[in-house]
Amino acid sequence: PVTVFDNKKSAEKSVAARIAALIKSKQANGETAVLGLATGATPIGVYKELVRLHKEEGLSFKNVVTFNLDEYYPMQPDAVQSYVRFMKEQLFDHIDILPENIHIPDGTLPKEKVVEFCLAYEQKISDVGGIDLQILGIGRTGHIGFNEPGSAPNSGTRLVTLADLTRRDASYDFGGKENVPTKAITMGVGTIFKAREVILMAWNLKKAAIVKQAAEGEISSDVPATYLQLSDKAEFVLDADAASALT
Ligand code: F6R
Repeated sequence: PVTVFDNKKSAEKSVAARIAALIKSKQANGETAVLGLATGATPIGVYKELVRLHKEEGLSFKNVVTFNLDEYYPMQPDAVQSYVRFMKEQLFDHIDILPENIHIPDGTLPKEKVVEFCLAYEQKISDVGGIDLQILGIGRTGHIGFNEPGSAPNSGTRLVTLADLTRRDASYDFGGKENVPTKAITMGVGTIFKAREVILMAWNLKKAAIVKQAAEGEISSDVPATYLQLSDKAEFVLDADAASALT
């Protein structure tokens, strides 16, 4: 399914409201809500709204467990481009989530520990009962998480090589493409689709072409986001600009 909002703000509010409703319904039953989270520009407004719901409307995150999609490799957690730092600044430092409930791929691991870490990450997700709701952005290569073109539908958490376009798109943040790491640790396509609900968000005209391919193009590993078409629990949430190329 595809849902188009007039503007980004109302789309962000709607996604944040769905997350809040999930958290509250789990709270009412004494259960944990397991969220799969993304970084980048796309989810920032959703996180802002969640912080507002916490501060102004008493939404508590005490029963929330989170798993982030990805992290650059290598990456120190306090570096400005780190997704650990991003999540703290955009969300975690402003809510009452328990630090032990936060999971983000570790960009500091020695190479020989990465496989073990990735398997343990998958295990931790299943140990808490799986992800209830996974939110995604989409890269201009069609990546979800850092699952670049060529990623298999059953792929798990692993070390991957970033596409050239992805590194170019990140070059501003790193002060030049040559400073963008060539690798990342990402949840796999298979990991993402084990979630009980998946929401891919996209805003702005610069995403219109890839959104069209993802939502209407031939399903292929060339554009990993096309895998969303195969799942009725996956949804595109778009603003009018990102949806503007759809037929
Ligand atoms: C980030 C992630 C990526 C981004 C995508 C879009 O955790 O997994 O797939 O969602 O690169 O990035 P933005 O939102 O910056 O356009």
